[in-house]
Amino acid sequence: MISLTLPQWYDLHAHFRQDELLAPMVEQHRRMGCAGALGMPNTKPPLARVFAKDEDATAWSVERYLDLFRKAWPAALDLIVPLYLTAATTPAMIEAGAKSGLLRACKYYPPGGTTNSEHGAAFRGYVENGVLAAMEAHGIVLCIHGEAHGVQGDAYFGRASNAEEDFYRNQMPALVEKFPRLKIVCEHVTTKVAADFVRHSGPNVAATVTPQHLLYSIAHFLQGCKYHLYCMPIVKFDEDVAALRRAVTAADNTQFFAGTDSAPHTVKATPCGCAAGCYTGGVAPQLYAEAFEKAGIAMDSAEGQGAFKKFLCLNGPAFYGLTVPQETFTLSKAPQEIGLVATPAGTVTPLPIGMQAQPTDKATLSWSVTPC
Ligand code: NCD
Ligand code: ZN
Repeated sequence: MISLTLPQWYDLHAHFRQDELLAPMVEQHRRMGCAGALGMPNTKPPLARVFAKDEDATAWSVERYLDLFRKAWPAALDLIVPLYLTAATTPAMIEAGAKSGLLRACKYYPPGGTTNSEHGAAFRGYVENGVLAAMEAHGIVLCIHGEAHGVQGDAYFGRASNAEEDFYRNQMPALVEKFPRLKIVCEHVTTKVAADFVRHSGPNVAATVTPQHLLYSIAHFLQGCKYHLYCMPIVKFDEDVAALRRAVTAADNTQFFAGTDSAPHTVKATPCGCAAGCYTGGVAPQLYAEAFEKAGIAMDSAEGQGAFKKFLCLNGPAFYGLTVPQETFTLSKAPQEIGLVATPAGTVTPLPIGMQAQPTDKATLSWSVTPC
């Protein structure tokens, strides 16, 4: 049986929510070998202040969520909570946040682009108001949800282009040129265009890739309307999946790393639409290993295991300057039964449950994690 002993890893983009969801979501991450995370609640109101003393009715703070997060995950080696960039973000907030040590990353969402993202301002605003320059000067990482905002119809998702390709073709090159020392994580990239942009942008630009974008294409979503796979950015075409697989499995990969964008929704589909977000707590290393195999990587070879370790455990900490944990966990090529995750706030459905042809509340993964 193939078995990998790996350092515990960091999920460098995940939503843990708050209140009654936070502790059970942390527990699912812990059980899959996570030592820490870049985590967000995705609240209304947004986490748009650094310090608790600056909170008001329109904004929660990084300080408040970090405190809740640490209490829910006392054994975590490191936790990063990004500040949500809004029209109210100022260079002075960035500077004070950086000096306090509370602020290590900021999050850009296209306004209205996904669940609870209506507070963001247009991207060029942060270029003009000095916020990005302050981040560059103080070593704060910019985490980008890279989709053009306000685009409709074929410009949003068409044969010639889509909102993500538009963003990486038309907005990112100027940004990287203007702020060459700004560390940027292109989060949950879904297209060949975005993956190529990252590979050609040098060591200050990196990307997270989710399990769902490595395993599924739009066909999997459309056939049967598999709404548990509905997340933003939406899964793309087979050539995009192939490009992402090449990027994450390359022997010399230093820029692509694990960030699941795991986003628990206790109510996913409603009569008028669907909440965006796939839940992969508890199952992510197993799904990533499956994706590496689908990419043609021999997971019993030293090269294959080395590439997997870089993607899951090493590249992310190197980019963010985190300590690679001494503690390990074990990932084995042995079936693992999974079920729904019950929480006091409701039930959460991890992928690939919800992807089967017949309704069921179980699934069998081809890889298993020995719980930590
Ligand atoms: C996320 C969520 O539900 O919080 N949804 C998603 O589609 N990934 C928000 C996000 O990061 O886009
Ligand atoms: Zn996200």
